[in-house]
Amino acid sequence: MAKHERFYINVFNGCNLNCRHCFNNEGATKGPLLTTPEILRLSDEAMDCLGITEMQLTGGEPLQRPDIFPLISALQEKGLKVILQTNGFFDRDTVRKIQDLSRNNLSLIISMDGFETNDYFRGRGVTARTVANIEMLSESVDIRINTLLSSRIEWEEVENLAKLAERHSIQLAFNPICPSGRADSTLLLPAQKYFQWMYRLEELSAMGISIRKCFNVVEGHLVENEDCPVRKGATVHIAADGAVYPCGFLVNKQACFLGSVRESSILDLMKRIPDDCRSLHPDCQKCEYHIRRECKGGCPARILNLKGRFGEKDIYCMAEHLPNLWNR
Ligand SMILES: C[S@@+](CC[C@H](N)C(=O)[O-])C[C@H]1O[C@@H](n2cnc3c(N)ncnc32)[C@H](O)[C@@H]1O
Ligand code: SF4
Ligand code: SF4
Repeated sequence: MAKHERFYINVFNGCNLNCRHCFNNEGATKGPLLTTPEILRLSDEAMDCLGITEMQLTGGEPLQRPDIFPLISALQEKGLKVILQTNGFFDRDTVRKIQDLSRNNLSLIISMDGFETNDYFRGRGVTARTVANIEMLSESVDIRINTLLSSRIEWEEVENLAKLAERHSIQLAFNPICPSGRADSTLLLPAQKYFQWMYRLEELSAMGISIRKCFNVVEGHLVENEDCPVRKGATVHIAADGAVYPCGFLVNKQACFLGSVRESSILDLMKRIPDDCRSLHPDCQKCEYHIRRECKGGCPARILNLKGRFGEKDIYCMAEHLPNLWNR
């Protein structure tokens, strides 16, 4: 089994926002919300059998869970680093509580999908409050901003995010939107633009801004940063009612339902990840980018959501788009 350092769990499916692009279309959870004792038992199991050191709490909006702060404290007491993934749309009281807990290994991942674009997706006024909260927290809390690359976002917004990150010494992470849940294929950043932006993000990195992106530029070549955890068999997504899927973007795909943590061990559930998820299109098997490990065959969730089955070619195919990247 691949090394599994982080563990993702949806601790609350409800949300204070209703973003136009949210993949988390789990709707009303099918079963009752995992209780705090259940999550603590799961964390013990994941520490024992997978050796995790970090636990990522997501949602829905995890800060809407009524007992979120006692839950975070209890996980910290076990020695886990807690990473809280939030939309950043919270009040002053929450800012103070986060500051208190951050003394003991708490990091925030705050979503900001641009500025105007963030308001378009998340609701008017969300960006202003999110930026204000980042400004209040950045001195005392480890923060990363997660930004989705979509057909809506302008490059100028990316540059303004870089300025915000530089001002507050925080990291930026960029990922393409996945056409899943409420997001459809019209929201995908076109492939040519996507690869060109990877080079431009590299230029921003070279200026000293801390940026995590899908590709690094190595001697002029784009090289995919990480193997997809689903392809490596090194991740599972635990939904708010304990249902398990290979990845958050595959939630609600009935064929990808692995079982429930209420009935089976995490290790048993991970063994049920279908081989199909990792299948490659025949072109990928003999592709020079794949042989050089520059492309790993794309995102299985994006492929399934767009093409209706695994083993197809990703829209972000380097072989198709890199040769004439700057010609259009
Ligand atoms: C579902 S949200 C839950 C946490 C929190 N409510 C938030 O918005 O950050 C987790 C992450 O998924 C991202 N996300 C939402 N919809 C997405 C989509 N269609 N494709 C890719 N990422 C998406 C969000 O931007 C966020 O960074
Ligand atoms: S992306 Fe986050 S904030 Fe927006 S609706 Fe989904 S869970 Fe809520
Ligand atoms: S997606 Fe394209 S670039 Fe990547 S391995 Fe397959 S054929 Fe090659």
